[in-house]
Amino acid sequence: MNNENIVWHEQTVSRSKKQALKGHRSVVLWYTGLSGSGKSTIANAVEAKLFELGCHTYLLDGDNVRHGLNKGLSFSDEDRVENIRRISEVAKLFVDAGIIVSTAFISPFQKDRDQARNLLPQGEFIEVFVDTPLAVCESRDPKGLYKKARAGEIANFTGISSTYEAPSLPEVHLKTAEQSINESVEQVISYLFQNNIIKREQ
Ligand code: ADX
Repeated sequence: MNNENIVWHEQTVSRSKKQALKGHRSVVLWYTGLSGSGKSTIANAVEAKLFELGCHTYLLDGDNVRHGLNKGLSFSDEDRVENIRRISEVAKLFVDAGIIVSTAFISPFQKDRDQARNLLPQGEFIEVFVDTPLAVCESRDPKGLYKKARAGEIANFTGISSTYEAPSLPEVHLKTAEQSINESVEQVISYLFQNNIIKREQ
């Protein structure tokens, strides 16, 4: 489609005004990891902690978003790219709105995560690698999907019949097989304090 007649509008209520009103900076916490790695659990617990600290948050979760905005997208490489592209754009809108937005998607391809990163100013995209070995995810198998994938009942299953590219330089690296959920939550929250995204007195 030709977009040449569509002009970008600057808005009077800027993102920095919105951030100032909220009392904290807005960023994306981009959780990535295998299915069953703990992305949703950790993202949910971090959001609860941020809420307690008086922060304005939103959580975009893979399984839920695939029921609505991204309904109809499959798990082919092409559709996963589109899934992540849409989420990246939505996450950017939330950051513009002054919100700390968390996204919990496998997001298996580095290129797509980098594209999400490149939509935002430096420091506003925080890649959180939920690093759980495949064997651990498979033994947890909370939704019974690994069992089905091994039986050949699900095509293109991440880690089994579809690639997962681990982040090489994530801002936060959570080794969930070696630490508790609380320790992972603390690690994310500490990163936000250390980088002045949230402040102590909140
Ligand atoms: S992504 O690869 O496009 O980022 P997304 O996070 O939205 O994936 O969805 C992953 C969730 O969908 C998994 O946690 C799992 O519950 C479910 N799922 C269903 N089929 C597959 C599949 N083939 N590969 C991975 N996850 C799948």
